[in-house]
Amino acid sequence: MAATLSLFVFVFSLPRMVFSIPTFTKILFPPKAFGGESIAFEPVGGAFYTGVADGRILKYQAPDGFTDFAFTTPTRSKAVCDGTTNLDLGPICRRTFGLALHYATRQLYIADAYSGLLVVGPNGRLATQLATGAEGQAFHFLDGLDVDQGTGVVYFTDASGVYDFRTIVKLNITNDSTGRLLSYNPRSSQVTVLLRNLTGPAGVAISVDSSFLLVSEFTGNRTLKYWLRGPRANSFDIINFQAKPHNIKRNPGLLQTFWEAAIITRQPAGTPVPIGQRISAFGAVLDTISFEAQYSTTPISEVQPFGGAL
Ligand SMILES: *[C@@H]1O[C@H](CO)[C@@H](O)[C@H](O)[C@H]1NC(C)=O
Ligand SMILES: *[C@@H]1O[C@H](CO)[C@@H](O)[C@H](O)[C@H]1NC(C)=O
Ligand SMILES: *[C@@H]1O[C@H](CO)[C@@H](O)[C@H](O)[C@H]1NC(C)=O
Ligand SMILES: *[C@@H]1O[C@H](CO)[C@@H](O)[C@H](O)[C@H]1NC(C)=O
Repeated sequence: MAATLSLFVFVFSLPRMVFSIPTFTKILFPPKAFGGESIAFEPVGGAFYTGVADGRILKYQAPDGFTDFAFTTPTRSKAVCDGTTNLDLGPICRRTFGLALHYATRQLYIADAYSGLLVVGPNGRLATQLATGAEGQAFHFLDGLDVDQGTGVVYFTDASGVYDFRTIVKLNITNDSTGRLLSYNPRSSQVTVLLRNLTGPAGVAISVDSSFLLVSEFTGNRTLKYWLRGPRANSFDIINFQAKPHNIKRNPGLLQTFWEAAIITRQPAGTPVPIGQRISAFGAVLDTISFEAQYSTTPISEVQPFGGAL
């Protein structure tokens, strides 16, 4: 976490180059916590939240480290769930993927694969369920989430309208195009379907001016730009065809650029290489960072700029 982003951009500004990371630091999870998938940072101070495989949402705060922060069902048993990586316990223990703070209200919004859309305040504990479906169709696998800091509207993805998370993993489902992009308005409690027939929509990020969203289709190997405002409102463009785009995060500041975690395939052996890619609002690849030295062929789920580091 020590390398500064400005250093990256300044030193390595050639587009489409794969380069290694100047400095790399690991923040280790406590024993028996695995699979942090996305990160929500407090706006100042560096504290952050992440959901792990056993259904807990952990909070990290230096120098104390990680503590249990929140959970997404009142029936979750710590004795049964804590430390588990058993996919079949997901419906009991739950599993949080997307997370984002609304800074003005200090509410942490949660996309949970089994509990739907939830929210929890600064003291954590049991999160409040906000929605479990939309337009008569239950959520099956909520995944990506972002918040419009101005309006408080929450944007999130349901990766499938048919399969839950454990089924997709266990049966290796790659032919499903029933995902949806949705929004939640905290004033009206209304959930709206923005896009249907998406192929594994994993991530969503809102632009700094709230005029569009970028949505990554993990299984579909593409990134969409969905217009919220202007003459193209409610329509989308396909802007990037990078394979396996996972979470997507907006770069801080006024420049409209975004970071995606993804996988490239190195030939001739077809070796999967985890990467982070910075793309423009038009889908142009501005930087590519290989995480092969750190993670070998293991996929990474998110690359997020924060406080001068990635
Ligand atoms: C999953 O399915 C895809 C497409 O059918 C295939 O390329 C891939 O090798 C499979 N993965 C596993 C782990 O079986
Ligand atoms: C999709 O793949 C699954 C598992 O591989 C299979 O059971 C299912 O029939 C397929 N569905 C379609 C529409 O091809
Ligand atoms: C989207 O999926 C629905 C079923 O969920 C189907 O009726 C419709 O034809 C699909 N639309 C497109 C454009 O594929
Ligand atoms: C997505 O990319 C992967 C890896 O390159 C490939 O195996 C898969 O067939 C692609 N899927 C689609 C829908 O194009």
